[in-house]
Amino acid sequence: MSQSTNITWHDSEVTKSDRQQQNGHKSVVIWFTGLSGSGKSTVSVALEKALFQLGKHSYRLDGDNVRHGLNNNLGFSPEDRKENIRRIGEVSKLLVDAGTIAITAFISPYRADRDDVRAILEDGEFIEVYTACSVEACEQRDPKGLYKKARAGEIKEFTGISAPYEVPHQPEITIDTEHQSVEASVNTIIEYLKEKQYI
Ligand code: ADX
Repeated sequence: MSQSTNITWHDSEVTKSDRQQQNGHKSVVIWFTGLSGSGKSTVSVALEKALFQLGKHSYRLDGDNVRHGLNNNLGFSPEDRKENIRRIGEVSKLLVDAGTIAITAFISPYRADRDDVRAILEDGEFIEVYTACSVEACEQRDPKGLYKKARAGEIKEFTGISAPYEVPHQPEITIDTEHQSVEASVNTIIEYLKEKQYI
């Protein structure tokens, strides 16, 4: 709920579409969602590099990184995760307004929170990418040793173990990170962006 009063919106003289035109591509949010260890960060890093090499303007926001700064006052309760995603949604919207392709890599386990972000953007500005990977495979990878800690009861409310993950009903893109290479996943996304004329 907004607590700001007596505030007035001030328009720029440079619009989003001016910026997109200058950049030579559209701006959009590429929103990764999936379990911890499912490959969100890995694929998003590779995607960011691929877009950079194609001369496209993009910027990546990543769960672990953003929680060091902007969101360092938030934990992992459903309320805190909601606020985490809300803030990232607003930052992503600013990046889109700035003409940039925003790439976000957050578990974002709740469907309603992801849909709230979609709702603050214009039609076509939110591309949900589901990194599909079974809990078993994520747990086997366990790159940060967190599943082990969660099983031992050392981390509470751990997604997939003791907290829910709600699979997207209709993501724009699903990448099967359990069976598909990072390069193949990046290609799938780049092809989608080209086909839909974002880039
Ligand atoms: S989200 O649920 O609010 O979207 P976010 O993506 O920002 O989560 O952060 C997830 C990262 O925080 C994980 O990759 C992991 O490194 C770390 N983490 C620490 N505690 C938890 C927990 N209880 N559940 C999930 N991830 C956790």
